[in-house]
Amino acid sequence: MPKSPDYFKGKTIVITGAGSGIGRATALIFAREGANVVCADIDEAAVAQTVEMIDAAYDGQSLALGIDVTDRAAVNNMIELAIGDFGSVQFLFNSAGSAMRRAKFLDIDDELFEATYDLNVKGTFYAMQAVLPHMLASRFGVIVNVGSMAHRRGGGGSSVHYASAKGAVVTMTMGVAREFASQGIRALSISPGPVDTNFQTASQTSPELKAQMLADVPMKRFAHPEEIGELVLFMCSDACEYMTADTVYVNGGGGFR
Ligand SMILES: NC(=O)c1ccc[n+]([C@@H]2O[C@H](COP(=O)([O-])OP(=O)(O)OC[C@H]3O[C@@H](n4cnc5c(N)ncnc54)[C@H](O)[C@@H]3O)[C@@H](O)[C@H]2O)c1
Repeated sequence: MPKSPDYFKGKTIVITGAGSGIGRATALIFAREGANVVCADIDEAAVAQTVEMIDAAYDGQSLALGIDVTDRAAVNNMIELAIGDFGSVQFLFNSAGSAMRRAKFLDIDDELFEATYDLNVKGTFYAMQAVLPHMLASRFGVIVNVGSMAHRRGGGGSSVHYASAKGAVVTMTMGVAREFASQGIRALSISPGPVDTNFQTASQTSPELKAQMLADVPMKRFAHPEEIGELVLFMCSDACEYMTADTVYVNGGGGFR
């Protein structure tokens, strides 16, 4: 929660991957707090539904954008449209991501490797490059990216392509945070354990792997997407002004912390 009441009122967040899971939950949380929410996703129907949910529950302003984060021009356009509608952007949450499909290390082909890096790494890179000049001009901005516990565990046996891409996201976040720390910009990442979203279906996770993930979590349940979204809210708030560069693990006590 923010330190000041109404802290988010009138401020604007751009959220990628807002058509589902963590991105959608975060969009609803920021709308609850009175923020303007720009909801972007490659799935136009899904992101339109997120905006409908916001309209039904809150009085806030929101905008649905169908964009592919692997397309630099589309990502630049996303930021321009957000600024065109709301005047400025204070927060960026890069939630669009996927493991694409599971594969043993020797079965990872170029296509899978490149698609995974395009979505998780380049998508995050493009959005940060697009928004930073605007944030720097007002000497204020918070960027939150999504890593994964996978980057600590390496993804052996099923997802080295994804785990290493998330490692790149966490490292890139740290570099951006340190480069712009004295200019009013903070950048953080969140590294979740398994979260109850469409992610496992989208990543073609087998029932056996899902059961193994659950067995690894001491709390014996997946996270709810809102449990990540509330952390995004805290990270962006004035209650969190000295935290930057780091990743925060949210994993029910599981994995390598
Ligand atoms: N769910 C988990 O267990 C888990 C664990 C660790 C990290 N993560 C990460 O959390 C983030 C959010 O995942 P989620 O669990 O909400 O998954 P999700 O599948 O519910 O949502 C991902 C969203 O990203 C969108 N997307 C995919 N490709 C896109 C593209 N090219 N351009 C724009 N949007 C695109 C999808 O349409 C979808 O709406 C991802 O970065 C994921 O890697 C998830």
